[in-house]
Amino acid sequence: MAVLLLKLYKRWQTALLCGMRLDDPRRLGLPARCSHHPHPNFCGYKCHEEIQRTLKKMLHNSRVAAVVFEARLGCLQDRVPEETLRFISALNAMWRLSEPVLLLPRWTRGLLPYWGRFVRAWDDITQIADGLIERRLLVLEERLRRGAAAPEGAGLLTALLTSKTLPREEVYTTVTELLLGGVDTTSNTLCWALYHLSRDPRAQRLLHQEALSECPDLQEPTAHHLTRLPYLKAVVKETLRLYPVVPGNGRLVLENEVYLEDYCFPRGTQFHLCHYVTGRDEAQFRASESFLPERWLRGGARESRLPHHPYSSIPFGRGVRGCVGKRVAQLEMYLALFRIMQHYQVLPQDPEEVVEAKTRTLMIPGKPINLRFIPRA
Ligand code: HEM
Repeated sequence: MAVLLLKLYKRWQTALLCGMRLDDPRRLGLPARCSHHPHPNFCGYKCHEEIQRTLKKMLHNSRVAAVVFEARLGCLQDRVPEETLRFISALNAMWRLSEPVLLLPRWTRGLLPYWGRFVRAWDDITQIADGLIERRLLVLEERLRRGAAAPEGAGLLTALLTSKTLPREEVYTTVTELLLGGVDTTSNTLCWALYHLSRDPRAQRLLHQEALSECPDLQEPTAHHLTRLPYLKAVVKETLRLYPVVPGNGRLVLENEVYLEDYCFPRGTQFHLCHYVTGRDEAQFRASESFLPERWLRGGARESRLPHHPYSSIPFGRGVRGCVGKRVAQLEMYLALFRIMQHYQVLPQDPEEVVEAKTRTLMIPGKPINLRFIPRA
């Protein structure tokens, strides 16, 4: 699966790069006139819910659905389709209710309403995803009947459906799982990155300068540019160190007991690596609570550089069960931040306001992040 994604990733790069034109505020979903400040030019105010909604819209619309389902969900249309709204609300419900499902004993399922709601959310998610897959299947079958080849630039779904490497039911679950994995992860990480950049003029200036020196005429970055942006990558790494959107990884000891130093962990032990804790461990990262992208740069900010353990910040996990969407996620976050920096200065609406993280299965902001987007001259 990972190999297949990596192969396809190369082919998608152009499509993804072209799909993210943020040069016009409206492309970002930002209004030409702001509701808070009816200034004739875009005034730059934007509140968190709108930002998060916009980022989610942008990401839902431009990438995961396009990459995975080869379909647009219509989030950027003036009227978002009913089905898409239902899908987003089912996803929210599923994440919210995953915690009571994990934490409460089974016998409560028949007594409390959370279980029925959780099952309904999953029913909605799978029903909508199945519909998208079936629509694609019809198109492919029609092409096949006419003797035509798979369409140019086809994505993952076509590859899976036509290569027949997976049984049909596995295609359904794989594709749905990819969509689930890709929706809230990148949008929340981008929100945190903007939260810190808005409060750290120096980091924002460095990032803007990097964008400017790579693409002086505000052109869209290409895959070639993206191989070179050390500060941008450091910003994303640092954001994920502080806010690992998937806050931990679980592994179950299935076969034999495991010996670690003087400890024996019997079969059936559940291990949990908490990225949030390891990423903020002062023994691994000096000034661990501070946002210091430089710590990821060779030769940068010596005071914050410690030879940390290679597994102390692994927000995408590791090994065969590591995040299969890592490259897509990174590409998407690099592109979005790059384009935002090219076009806007991002400021906090209230510099004193502190936003803490909370978990809703995923790690998300505990309250709204209110930002101002000031168009650069
Ligand atoms: C900031 C972005 C993201 C982060 C931090 C992240 C993190 C993770 C982590 C920690 C895991 C578990 C890995 C393990 O157990 O070792 C995971 C699994 C997964 N992720 Fe992501 N992810 C991100 C974005 C995405 C995207 C964009 C997609 C889809 C396009 C995706 C799809 C998946 C899938 C399908 C799995 C399950 C893999 C398996 O169980 O084999 N993720 N992710």
